[in-house]
Amino acid sequence: VSATVENVSVIGTGYLGATHAACMAELGFNVVGVDIDPEKITSLSAGDLPFHEPGLPELIRKHVTGGKLRFTTNLDEVGAWADVHFIAVGTPQVRGGTGADMTYVDTATTDLARAITKDALIVGKSTVPVGTAARLADLIAETKHPEVNLSLAWNPEFLREGFAVEDTLTPDRLVIGTTNTHDEDTLRSVYAEALDRDTPWISTDYQTAELVKVAANAFLATKISFINAFAEVTETVGGDITTLADAIGHDTRIGRKFLNAGVGFGGGCLPKDIRALQTRVAELGLDHSMRFLDEVDQINLRRRKKTVALAFDTLDQDVIGKKIAVLGITFKPLSDDVRDSPGLDVAARLFNAGADVAIYDPQGNHNAAKRYPRITYNDTLNEAVTGAELVILTTEWDEFKTLTPEDLNHKVTTRRIIDARNVLNPHHWENAGWTFTQLGRQS
Ligand code: UGA
Repeated sequence: VSATVENVSVIGTGYLGATHAACMAELGFNVVGVDIDPEKITSLSAGDLPFHEPGLPELIRKHVTGGKLRFTTNLDEVGAWADVHFIAVGTPQVRGGTGADMTYVDTATTDLARAITKDALIVGKSTVPVGTAARLADLIAETKHPEVNLSLAWNPEFLREGFAVEDTLTPDRLVIGTTNTHDEDTLRSVYAEALDRDTPWISTDYQTAELVKVAANAFLATKISFINAFAEVTETVGGDITTLADAIGHDTRIGRKFLNAGVGFGGGCLPKDIRALQTRVAELGLDHSMRFLDEVDQINLRRRKKTVALAFDTLDQDVIGKKIAVLGITFKPLSDDVRDSPGLDVAARLFNAGADVAIYDPQGNHNAAKRYPRITYNDTLNEAVTGAELVILTTEWDEFKTLTPEDLNHKVTTRRIIDARNVLNPHHWENAGWTFTQLGRQS
């Protein structure tokens, strides 16, 4: 591949791929996003996204209108056209197991290698078990047209949902696993516009690049479960988990971020990534190395059960027929993603126990309703809390963080609230006569 890259393809137009495609167009490249799902292609071409991500629809529309970005199902077309192909398909948790489902990555890679008729660099962005890039490089060599030069680089993605565009356009580091400096130079030219002088550029081998991604997510998950394990202790012995987190967080070696105790982590990344990592190292005969991640997972899942147990305690062990308003069922704010969502899990458990659960979420109702159609979803906070005997805050959307007792006093039947994200001020609520409960904090 010449170091002058003009045309870029992105294979897979889900969360990661759609963001990456739009951002590559913003960086000045001609971009084609490829997906096997024709409906997705039609809606993306119109700037309609099947998920909520601030700023992304606008960016897609801008570049579709400006002619820098298009979407297609035709892999042959991009195979003859692009200088660089990014693979951004999903690696979900395998059904009925804990490892990563590699079908999409494997299929996308071989189909792509078969379709490419012009020398190119293939760049893997998906989160994969270590060893995948080396395996895919062999697959590519076996599958490609003999006269075409293809090589593979690994370039993990660290974007956060809700900040996907910002994280892609101004990354806090770039990690590139390659087998030669030429490919590294090519990627440097691709990202030149996004890098300022200080952006760390980490050039390494395949294995390290693959592991950096899962190590980062495993660390973040561990940090959250670490503070939640201490919340279990303060719940028993007394003490305040938020003050504890503030105090240890002042040590810059520890840092305050990702030390918010509460109902725990969810989403399409952290839970599946720690499970896939354990599974992968076990395959390598190293199950002991990552065994602590099992504990990280268990601590996290216990927080959901604890929140449900607190609901039972608050309602004198009888939830049947009682109206419980659950505020926030996306796995975090600024997202409509309910995959492995702690809030939705809590809501479903209470619903299954016979409670009259009323969910309100600013963005997530439609996705949650697909999974649990029998639960009640309200379009407004007001409807959800009216007549409630208990309110549970499970995702810290801004509109919930700023709630005051005065907003709810005359709507609920009884003044009881569980703040499972530890974002409300206990004194305000207790002073207004509420039974107020947080995780890991006394009230
Ligand atoms: C995560 C990583 O943060 C990204 O760097 C990574 O690129 C991404 O996974 C991925 O692998 O694609 P994301 O899943 O968007 O990003 O969400 P986070 O912001 O990491 O939050 C994960 C969960 O942890 C949420 O449920 C959140 O509520 C919870 N959390 C976060 C806590 O319970 N406590 C905290 O202190 C912080």
